[in-house]
Amino acid sequence: MAARLQFSIHNSLWFLSSSFSSPLHPFNSRGFHNLKNRLHFRPNPSRAALFCTCKSSNFPNAEASNDPFVLTTPLYYVNAPPHMGSAYTTIAADAIARFQRLLGKKVIFIAGTDEHGEKIATAAAARGSSPNEHCDVISQAYKALWEDLDIAYDKFIRTTDPKHEVIVKEFYSRVLANGDIYRADYEGLYCVNCEEYKDEKELLDNNCCPMHLKPCVLRKEDNYFFALSKYQTKLEETLSQNPDFVQPSFRLNEVQSWIKSGLRDFSISRASVDWGIPVPNDDKQTIYVWFDALLGYISAFLQEEQQANLQTAVSSGWPASLHLIGKDILRFHAVYWPAMLMSAGLSLPRMVFGHGFLTKDGMKMGKSLGNTLEPNDLVQRFGSDAVRYFFLREVEFGNDGDYSEDRFINIVNAHLANTIGNLLNRTLGLLKKNCQSTLAVDSTIAAEGNEFKDTVEKLVEKARIQYETLSLSSACEAVLEIGNAGNLYIDEHAPWSLFKQGGAAAEAAAKDLVIILEAMRIIAIALSPVMPRLCLRIYTQLGYSEDQFNAATWGDTKWGGLRGGQIMAQPKPVFARIEIQKEGEDEAEVKKKISKKKEKIPQSQTLAEA
Ligand code: MSP
Repeated sequence: MAARLQFSIHNSLWFLSSSFSSPLHPFNSRGFHNLKNRLHFRPNPSRAALFCTCKSSNFPNAEASNDPFVLTTPLYYVNAPPHMGSAYTTIAADAIARFQRLLGKKVIFIAGTDEHGEKIATAAAARGSSPNEHCDVISQAYKALWEDLDIAYDKFIRTTDPKHEVIVKEFYSRVLANGDIYRADYEGLYCVNCEEYKDEKELLDNNCCPMHLKPCVLRKEDNYFFALSKYQTKLEETLSQNPDFVQPSFRLNEVQSWIKSGLRDFSISRASVDWGIPVPNDDKQTIYVWFDALLGYISAFLQEEQQANLQTAVSSGWPASLHLIGKDILRFHAVYWPAMLMSAGLSLPRMVFGHGFLTKDGMKMGKSLGNTLEPNDLVQRFGSDAVRYFFLREVEFGNDGDYSEDRFINIVNAHLANTIGNLLNRTLGLLKKNCQSTLAVDSTIAAEGNEFKDTVEKLVEKARIQYETLSLSSACEAVLEIGNAGNLYIDEHAPWSLFKQGGAAAEAAAKDLVIILEAMRIIAIALSPVMPRLCLRIYTQLGYSEDQFNAATWGDTKWGGLRGGQIMAQPKPVFARIEIQKEGEDEAEVKKKISKKKEKIPQSQTLAEA
């Protein structure tokens, strides 16, 4: 079935003057070429290369060091409560935001929910609720999960917020004034779950959507259209001049080939959907969910006390440094959204990163397919640190990754209970027994001429680079290598026997403990973006307060923080090993075992010398 488009009203500029201009426009009203010569670039493109190589006129000047780091997650549909796939993007975003804060950046981390459109209205009706009530409940479920997962967002935007509505309408009017909206009839196959008209050639048998495996429905509507095709050349130029705009780099080819294959205008209103923002001057139509939700990235900047208008919102933080999204919504973010912003004369975000999918049995985990993994259940059973760590460490950020409970338990036990928890616990145990929990010397003195310190410094630098390039799994790996090196060091030096020898040997052993604890201190800072709670527990075991932990910066990963005379806390396990359910053992027994373990010292963390 070929889609059919019929123009009925061309360029409907009935309520805005064509000489529209605004201080918000950094360019003239078409605004594409005239800033080229005024761009400044950061002098060292190799550092943080992902965030500062924009060269197109619609891109803001290369990020100045005092610009906030603005990071967004997708605004999640509230047709159903969150699942692990939706939590994944947000966990990654939180780790990136925490890392940027550690670097000393002012961060604006935007999260939120996408609450309009047909599928939300249908979901509300199915629950016997009004759309408003339904959105309140599900949006609250997202907020609650974010809290349980220690997601420290700065703004939570709901697209049903009245201020957001004002921003969407103003944006729509700007695009209209720019001559980019027209009215036409449209007939095509629509996937309600994607909220998108589809090309017949991209569909499976029986016109099924390849993502949701459900048949698309034939729709015929009289809609308003956005003239995306007008931006074909501009988008092509923008992407070729700013290849880092789409990340990971292999996704850029995909975006470029979509554009090359020819951009078609898309409908930005729905005549058949009531649950949405009315089109300005035509309340028989509502604005298409994507033309509404993407604006949430801008309306999120509005403060409680501020009047809602585009200029205020934009000047409070736009453009975003990074939109983190899943690969299924790349076209909306890397094609539609930049074109919409160009039309409205606004700066483009600096980067769109499309990560892969969490799969279950090879299929994308999702609300529509009903094969989801329950994040609340995972958090309740294993704690937020384990959940955050597993998904960030196990799935290479950008690629797909499959979940298996065995793998989850093995990884988390090996890395968190054994490599990190055990090392800390055995070292503090030895320090308590032999040094009254007091450090003998400064860590700088303890490590004089010691290669271990160089190893730690190299690994922590590696972790920094990996975080900056969003290689979150490799960042975790580099920090874990510090733990592995620490375990090797302590096993090779065997301080427990050196203490028994007394004299110089015991002095060397006391220095070895300082060295390991200094490494633990560095691990606690370097892993804190991924596991804030666990790292706080490590930090407090090292005798620091929570305030000191919160005030730590990446600069504190430099060797030399621990001082002679500093008193460490009593050894207490920082991560309880997860017990695997054995055959014949019921779940309740295992749960009991786990909660007992949480109270007691787990087996894996008994003192080495015991
Ligand atoms: N509402 C739109 C986004 C609008 S942003 C202005 C939307 N919502 S969604 O709830 O369907 O999906 C939100 C995000 O969750 C998408 O980035 C999507 O890729 C991600 N995920 C949903 N299932 C996923 C997996 N199974 N794995 C990883 N991410 C997945 O699209």
